[in-house]
Amino acid sequence: MKPNLKKNSRLKGFYKLNRGERVDLVRAFANLPVDQVRLVGQDGALSFDIADLFIENAIGAFPLPLGIATNFKVDGEDYLVPMAVEESSVVAAASNAARWVYESGGFTTEVVESAMIGQIQVLDVATSEFPAVRERILDAKPELLRLANEIHPRLVMRGGGALDLEVRAFPDAEVPFLVVHVVLDTKDAMGANLVNTVCEKLAPEIAALTGGRVGLRILSNLADRRVFRARARVNPELLVAKGEEGGLSGAQIAQRIFEAFVFADSDPYRATTHNKGIMNGVDPVVIATGNDWRAVEAGVHAYAACRTGRYRSLSTWRLDEEGWLVGTIELPLQLGTVGGVTRLHPMARFSLQTLGNPTANQLGRIIACSGLASNLAALRALTTTGIQKGHMKLHAKNLALGAGAKGEEVEVVAHLMVREGNVSASAAEEILHAYRERKEAERPRVSHDFTSVSELE
Ligand code: MEV
Repeated sequence: MKPNLKKNSRLKGFYKLNRGERVDLVRAFANLPVDQVRLVGQDGALSFDIADLFIENAIGAFPLPLGIATNFKVDGEDYLVPMAVEESSVVAAASNAARWVYESGGFTTEVVESAMIGQIQVLDVATSEFPAVRERILDAKPELLRLANEIHPRLVMRGGGALDLEVRAFPDAEVPFLVVHVVLDTKDAMGANLVNTVCEKLAPEIAALTGGRVGLRILSNLADRRVFRARARVNPELLVAKGEEGGLSGAQIAQRIFEAFVFADSDPYRATTHNKGIMNGVDPVVIATGNDWRAVEAGVHAYAACRTGRYRSLSTWRLDEEGWLVGTIELPLQLGTVGGVTRLHPMARFSLQTLGNPTANQLGRIIACSGLASNLAALRALTTTGIQKGHMKLHAKNLALGAGAKGEEVEVVAHLMVREGNVSASAAEEILHAYRERKEAERPRVSHDFTSVSELE
């Protein structure tokens, strides 16, 4: 791309401008056509006032499709699961797999642990002193925890608060250092602010105790102390759908799903894609409920690698003695259902209400299930018809819409593209054009060629 020397992104004081002024500047910078500028001025459920509160330099909101995944039964309770996602087939796939699980008895879940970790880095301590310093910090643990809990008395009243303190040492790092971990139960808050405040408040105490210099004070997004487990046991006969699997029996499909799991668990190249399929069920719910999906993504993938020292599948799939397919998943999920965006974003409120206003732990259980369901749907598709068939159907609809198809035209154009094996933007345009011409030719003509006035009467 040729650099445009006239463009200048140094927009000093952009944040002080009102919305119209900001949009005008962006419009001039990017030479935006009027219709695009109008789009950014259209507010949906998220009013500009709130968007402007959430972030800096706001000019509008970016809508994503919101769908409802059906058929979820988690620990005996039925749920409709809101998903905000742009990818075709994610909601349908999760709902389908949730149905197989529903009809097999539903998901069961457990909260393995429910705490966040804050990190306080300590530098300028001689490595020979590390063991002694460590001892000193651990000896002061009760006092440090007491101090931490003084900071958030309301959290303690709600049954949360600082639980533990650990010390880790990195004597061989380029700059040797220690890290103090503060383990905190943040209850229904995601906890970033709570944890960061505690780390900042404890830092001077830690510096005094160690004689060192405190470096970073921040939560860890490797939330391996906030872990949710879900399990599904599926009757393999439910995985058979006539006309789709090339004659595979349920037992064969289940065996292939097991083999697909082995592939993912052995090969990080496959594990990454396998886990992406899990995140197809996780991120949309995290987003729909106003949670920090970057934190969840970072944590989940780090967990997939750090749990065993090698990046592996986050789920397992095996056959039990009765030949049923048993899936488990373990996900670290840093989620909140109170405070911040979860309460202020009207759509997040809608989603939480739809889920029955869950606690953070209930939300974690549900999301672990939607991750497992998405994984199962992907593996079944991959081990049977392949993923493209379903994807292509939905992709074809998007292309048909993009080509300008309306109403029934969308289905027709998509269907013809898939049948002809050419799913592309140009094919969508051609087919739509041909379809409209044919329709026009078939349209019954009304004659206006009246021979006499009496014929009108
Ligand atoms: C696509 O969004 C997700 C899959 O690639 C997941 C997988 O390969 O398991 C289908």
